[in-house]
Amino acid sequence: MQGVSKIYDQEVLRVEHLTLTKGCIYGIIGPSGAGKSTLLRIINLLTRPDSGEVLYQGCPTPQNGPERLALQRKMSLVFQQTLLFKDSVWNNVAYGLKARGFPKAEIRERVNSLLEQVGLKKLASRGTDTLSGGEAQRVAIARAVAFEPELLLLDEPTANLDPGNIELIEEIITKLARQKKITVVMVTHNVFQARRIADQVIFINQGQIVESGATEQIFQNPQFDTTAAYISGRMVY
Ligand SMILES: Nc1ncnc2c1ncn2[C@@H]1O[C@H](COP(=O)(O)OP(=O)(O)OP(=O)(O)O)[C@@H](O)[C@H]1O
Ligand SMILES: [Mg+2]
Repeated sequence: MQGVSKIYDQEVLRVEHLTLTKGCIYGIIGPSGAGKSTLLRIINLLTRPDSGEVLYQGCPTPQNGPERLALQRKMSLVFQQTLLFKDSVWNNVAYGLKARGFPKAEIRERVNSLLEQVGLKKLASRGTDTLSGGEAQRVAIARAVAFEPELLLLDEPTANLDPGNIELIEEIITKLARQKKITVVMVTHNVFQARRIADQVIFINQGQIVESGATEQIFQNPQFDTTAAYISGRMVY
């Protein structure tokens, strides 16, 4: 990302420079309204910046048309509020694979294996409207990674979940990311969560990246007072 700016009533995001490295897990932290979701939506090509450029593997992203869509289909975005189809668990996980024209046998194999990995094999035929919040979010993540996206974008995927499900989902994300070399960008309000799962942390405040770097470096030796205040819980909004 270069010189990216997003303006609504006022400028809500300004990123001079940001590079994401393949296979890395990023944790985006920062107070409410800082611009975290906006950044995620720009990465996902859902939102167009008002200026600047988003590059993908060094090439500027197409502004529209099938090429932009093709790029978008290499990424998955999972929201805090799970959006599942009113269908079975199995069909939800299979959805992206069907849409991308995967062969039937491969769809079966991948969906079964994923349901096993997220601990939901027994619920394969259940309707998604009967699931608990934690189960639903596990289905959403299984669905998001089924086609092995290059980028997995997560916007507070464990907010509102109990500690057991949070741990499970963190495990699933890190395991899948490592196994399939998926680049993960996860927005979280929980700085402990960022510390647990991220390789790199990006701290955003008031629309700007204050500081980014290796997770332990940020937590043990933050370079700015605002970072120190935020990670120690002293920055209250
Ligand atoms: N579609 C929009 N129209 C107008 N303003 C918007 C729009 N989307 C976001 N904003 C504003 O941009 C700013 C950043 O919003 P954003 O959703 O990126 O914050 P966030 O860091 O994700 O916050 P939270 O932690 O509460 O989810 C906020 O002030 C928000 O009100
Ligand atoms: Mg947000």
